[in-house]
Amino acid sequence: MSQEERRSAAQGSPAGTVYQSGFANQFATEAVAGALPSGQNSPQRPPLGLVSELVSGTAFAAPRASNRRSYLFRVRPSTHNSPWKETRIPRFLTPPLDFGHYPGPLRWSSMRDDAVPGNFLDGIQTISGNGSPTAQSGMAIHIYNATAPMSGKAFANNDAEMLLVPQTGTLLVTTELGILSISPGEFAVLPRGLKLRVDPVEGPSYGFLCENFGLSFELPELGLIGSHGLANTADFQTPVAAFGNIDDSVELVLKSCGRFWSTHLDHGVFDVVAWRGNWAPYKFDMMKFNTIGSLSYDHPDPSIFCALTSPSSAVAGGNIDFMILPPRWVVSEHSFRPPGFHRNSVAEFLALVQGSHDSRNSAFPPGSFSLHNCWTPHGPDTQTLEIGRKAELVPQKIDDTMVFMLETRFPLEMASGAMAAPQRQINCADGWAGFVKRFPDGE
Ligand SMILES: [Fe+2]
Repeated sequence: MSQEERRSAAQGSPAGTVYQSGFANQFATEAVAGALPSGQNSPQRPPLGLVSELVSGTAFAAPRASNRRSYLFRVRPSTHNSPWKETRIPRFLTPPLDFGHYPGPLRWSSMRDDAVPGNFLDGIQTISGNGSPTAQSGMAIHIYNATAPMSGKAFANNDAEMLLVPQTGTLLVTTELGILSISPGEFAVLPRGLKLRVDPVEGPSYGFLCENFGLSFELPELGLIGSHGLANTADFQTPVAAFGNIDDSVELVLKSCGRFWSTHLDHGVFDVVAWRGNWAPYKFDMMKFNTIGSLSYDHPDPSIFCALTSPSSAVAGGNIDFMILPPRWVVSEHSFRPPGFHRNSVAEFLALVQGSHDSRNSAFPPGSFSLHNCWTPHGPDTQTLEIGRKAELVPQKIDDTMVFMLETRFPLEMASGAMAAPQRQINCADGWAGFVKRFPDGE
């Protein structure tokens, strides 16, 4: 067993997936001893015959807390003289989306399809989105079904940072900066412009993909919560340097300003032998999210579930806020415990990764998702309302659940393919039918 395999086994991760701990640290990693130049980034002749390549993920003079850049020491530079030809990925769309805005509640049953033949890119279907990659603002939400590997292909998304949340099936994500294994219950964030391939392992994978056209995700400020809590920095994992297939030809597919381009290279793109910096992919186990909640009565705002934020406006809301609702205790007294009725200025996409959600009935099994646009009223269905009004308020453990939400300040547009999908629950608002009017006598 190699040293790397021993380290993988010790961490309980598949061979080739070894991680460094922390969020946007100044990482330094080498797959071959001595590959990282000592004391500088641009030596006249880098070690082992490598070339030095800088990737700036933010403006050069961005504030230190937000600045992202890495130096890559690789076999060949990313420059090449192969021509680009436009190509298509038919269901992978970029806003503006053709259906436009829809103000009512929307729900879909799981769109998992283990029979669809295709790799990760082929299996992406756009649900919703807003803004524009050209304006560097907004986001897009997609589902994916991956049943085949991206053999001989690599992908770079110059439009967006990508947030990947599998619901079924493990994904092996090979990137320029290392390899990540992502299982249901975890998420990964892949920086804009990073070359990568996404392959299902041990069976098909279905899940969710969020493109972030705005500022890169960062950890929310904790304010009065203090120095730790929510998604703790030590629990983020970034892969160590890894390289392979450096002399094999590859088709590189690029997404740029909503269009797809393809070029054939006579060499591999995963040839980074060492790198240092804080522009890097990472993953997080959502079970490690440290949940904050009420110990007395009522509900705090759902901002307490925020794991990552793409900032936009302190008043109008984030470009994207990514929220995690893991298993947790509910102990509030003389309070209606499920999420109550509400209307928000921000739009909300919610998906169930595992178990059940405490304001939804059995028509919302794992893999299902809902969308409530800006100002769309929603809350407990009638059945949940009646149960919640009469429930005995003993401490309760919501044990089997894993929900994530994407909130955005900008109204979401819909893809017509999602609106016409057979999995759409056309009558989802019927759950609110049968409301019992108790005024003025009460009960
Ligand atoms: Fe909501």
